[in-house]
Amino acid sequence: MLPVRKEIVTRIASLTGLPSPEVEASLEIPHDPKLGEYAFPCFPLARRLKKSPQAIAAELAEHTWVSEHLERVESVGPYLNFYVHRSYLFKTLLPQILRAGPAYGTLAEGEGKTVLVDYSAPNIAKPFSVGHLRSTVIGNALCRLYRALGYKVVGINHLGDWGTQFGKLIVAYRRWGDAARLLEEPVQYLYQLYVRFHQEAENEPVLEDEARTWFRRLEKGDPEARELWEHFRALSLEDFQRLYRYLGISFDSYMGESDYNDQLAGTIELARARGLVKESEGALVADLEQYGIPTCLLQKKDGAALYITRDLAAAIYRYQTYSFDRMLYVVGAEQTLHFQQFFKLLELMGFSWAENCLHVPFGLIHFKDGRMSTRQGKVIFLEEVLKRAVELARETVEEKNPTLPDKDSVARAVGLGAVIFGDLINDRIKDVEFDWEKVLDFAGETAPYIQYSHARICSILRRAAAAEGASGKASGNGEATPQELALLGEPEEEALVIAMAHFSEEIVRAVRDNRPSYLARYLLELARDFNKFYHNCPVLTAKKELREGRLQLVAGVRIVLRNGLALLGIEAPQEM
Ligand code: ARG
Repeated sequence: MLPVRKEIVTRIASLTGLPSPEVEASLEIPHDPKLGEYAFPCFPLARRLKKSPQAIAAELAEHTWVSEHLERVESVGPYLNFYVHRSYLFKTLLPQILRAGPAYGTLAEGEGKTVLVDYSAPNIAKPFSVGHLRSTVIGNALCRLYRALGYKVVGINHLGDWGTQFGKLIVAYRRWGDAARLLEEPVQYLYQLYVRFHQEAENEPVLEDEARTWFRRLEKGDPEARELWEHFRALSLEDFQRLYRYLGISFDSYMGESDYNDQLAGTIELARARGLVKESEGALVADLEQYGIPTCLLQKKDGAALYITRDLAAAIYRYQTYSFDRMLYVVGAEQTLHFQQFFKLLELMGFSWAENCLHVPFGLIHFKDGRMSTRQGKVIFLEEVLKRAVELARETVEEKNPTLPDKDSVARAVGLGAVIFGDLINDRIKDVEFDWEKVLDFAGETAPYIQYSHARICSILRRAAAAEGASGKASGNGEATPQELALLGEPEEEALVIAMAHFSEEIVRAVRDNRPSYLARYLLELARDFNKFYHNCPVLTAKKELREGRLQLVAGVRIVLRNGLALLGIEAPQEM
């Protein structure tokens, strides 16, 4: 609907003298179709013009608004409501959607701008937990959403591949390690070794000293330590990558914490030159108290650098490498303080781009099902969650459609979709309660519900194609005629075309607030609108002309559902 939106913004700006971006930001999309497709609240003008917002709205409504797109404009209290021509929506926009196909919804407003998204970032030898799942799912959706707006996106996996845990792992592996088991399931096995190390160290405290010694050796480049570390890192990375492939996710960079080892001293020097570094009992700290932020440690007294020091070095490196316009860190809310300290330091170090760095926090996940509980410190491995989801989806698919050809790939799309959507439908900042039954419910607020609506449309289109024969429009031969499209106009049909028209605006909104949940909610509503339509307006049994119009309408819905799910990282099977 962008041409209409632009037209409205330009008109209001020129009539009121408000700057366009301000008008753009306050233009609303009313929920009730009776209030039009757009609404402009006149409150912000009231003070400036020293008139009541009601009076302003009434005066603005007096102007001539009718145009190719706009049918009428009405003032309702302090609001100005805009009504778009139905014929524009059905006869111009709908064919445009069908022609654009997979490109429908994309915009070019981010062209020439680069966004870095730091997400997922699991730690080697520690489990890839469901906390990392949230980062992975939200980060991936954000990458796709920014790309849809034309931004160049660089997805970075800042692997946790350095730290004292490697000293412990080396000790554990040299004592109890089994090379074959390591090869079998690296991530799980390294984690078991790590846990065993802690158990045994309780009775045998020298293990801790040994671990420190081995970590120091590693830092100094000792060949044996180095070789083991590289082995652990490479195997774990392969394991992670298998998971990412399964989820359909890829990264542009895997530069992790260890990659900044040789830049840490220089980074601390930069901070020191700005008078930001103090010595405290042999350690180096940055005092941020005067900014209301707790002091942070940059280097331990044994010389080991910290997480934040690596983040500083990485940010500087990334700016030099990509000169990004924005950098997002999709990391749990429990690290909020870390990012406050980190961004403040960047700013104090004189990097003006620090203001373009943003922490995109999210809440915790709780599992309702006892089997997946985190109680007693039992960790949840992401892989278990995904496998379980696909298994459950497989059972449902089997039950609902026993003759379905490719059940495995459908079960995978549905199971993974359920997990991904079960996360993304929530406002990211809130904690999520993950309930297996809920996320897989084909009638609930779920991916399977949307996927099912999509598959239903595919089936309608297939049946239409079969009935019409290969030369029919449903087989892709020509578009519905304006006469056929002119027959559309039931409230259910209007609701669909209006919702489709707002698709790219939802993407813009989701990107503006870095909240994929907006798009998730939108898709859910579109699927609901479709089901309402389908219930009340027959497609295949309608008279020929009306049938053609309705087929085009549902083909449009199909495109939006499919493109929208893809932006969230979810597949849309043709049949389920
Ligand atoms: N590996 C970290 C963790 O698991 C997350 C890293 C996030 N990215 C960053 N640049 N700090 O907690």
